[in-house]
Amino acid sequence: MGVLANKRVLLGVTGSIAAYKAADLVRQLREQGATVRVVMTRSAQEFITPLTLEALSGHPVRRELLDTGEESAMGHIDLARWSDVVLVAPASANLLARLAHGLADDLLATLCLAADVPVLVAPAMNRQMWMNPATQANVQTLEQRGIRRLGPALGEQACGETGPGRMLEPRDLVQQLAAQFNGGQLSGLHVMVTAGPTREPIDPVRYISNRSSGRMGYAVARAAAEAGAEVTLITGPVALPLPEQVRGVTVDTALQMRDAVITEIDGTDIFIAAAAVADYRSVDVSSQKIKKTQSRVELTLEKNPDILGEVAARPRPPFTVGFAAETERLREQALDKLINKRLDMIAANDVSAEQAFDREDNALEVYWQGGGVSLPRAGKEKLARRLVALVADRFHAKHPGQAH
Ligand code: PMT
Repeated sequence: MGVLANKRVLLGVTGSIAAYKAADLVRQLREQGATVRVVMTRSAQEFITPLTLEALSGHPVRRELLDTGEESAMGHIDLARWSDVVLVAPASANLLARLAHGLADDLLATLCLAADVPVLVAPAMNRQMWMNPATQANVQTLEQRGIRRLGPALGEQACGETGPGRMLEPRDLVQQLAAQFNGGQLSGLHVMVTAGPTREPIDPVRYISNRSSGRMGYAVARAAAEAGAEVTLITGPVALPLPEQVRGVTVDTALQMRDAVITEIDGTDIFIAAAAVADYRSVDVSSQKIKKTQSRVELTLEKNPDILGEVAARPRPPFTVGFAAETERLREQALDKLINKRLDMIAANDVSAEQAFDREDNALEVYWQGGGVSLPRAGKEKLARRLVALVADRFHAKHPGQAH
């Protein structure tokens, strides 16, 4: 499995002699497991043909902002939302200037403006152009706005001059891109995640459960593993494959989930409870299928242990992150859970009106003592990466100097 497995890279190619290296870059990105879609500016097409990049990426190359045929297949905003990262390589002086001024005068500039994912630029130009105060000011502006610069390198240039301005080699770009995802923010740490529903049996064929698909918890486990953690996933019954690099423990009931968590909790640095644990279980579980002879049947339920609460109440608890699934007063109820369960952080989601449960996307309101942030609606994979980055920040703020 490559270092960019399952990552969606939107590669922007601009007009520079280094555009020919984009072919090798696409090849190497794909070799590392990424899905690559390419967008070329008009001047990039003077240096390398779209056909080459189309063949190497396996997808049509997008060139025009207002191409009705392409827009109906995947609109430019959808294209920006599709990606996990935007990499512009090579990024010409002209592109850097247009981005610095927030222009949306072609497809690539518009995508960079519309992207809500990291945007990385790999400048490539003549050394004088690079050192020109205008270019330097543009780069500074972009960096202040969070756009990451990769390179340029020093060396001999196509124009015969020597100095800064060479695009980084494709292998270095791939490596830096991988580091962007696998920032190692959690390396050396043990993370435990709970996911999915629990099933509380009534008889051999019936149970009480809920609509959790496990997607959110599985995405969190995957994101934590990508960030370098050793991850244990305690999962209720779901129809999802175990993420790469994650150790799974499968359970059915809340009591089994509690036992699995407590058995494994020693040595856990961060505990993230994304499971939708059934709050109640049936007091009596019939050993035979209950017959439908009576017009009315009563079930007596008893409360299940609060797994998250028990972990947070340990003498030396891990950094503890809860989820709150609410249909009303999201903030108020999440803050109640944060304080009453003595959590380090809580991620609240609105589960009213078909939201969050069993969907591909979600939105989270994340709170901790004295702070909070909204993570806007996005695919659960993307959202989980953002949540894990926040967890890593708060964890390291609480435990300065611990493994990184
Ligand atoms: O699985 P998906 O379809 O992707 O949906 C994701 C999700 C909506 C299930 C997920 O985002 C989510 O909100 N999970 C928590 C659901 C929940 O049980 O919320 P709660 O507010 O009832 O519980 C609060 C916290 O206590 C949760 O962290 C829960 O895991 C934990 N808990 C609850 C009860 C219990 N007995 N033990 C617990 O540990």
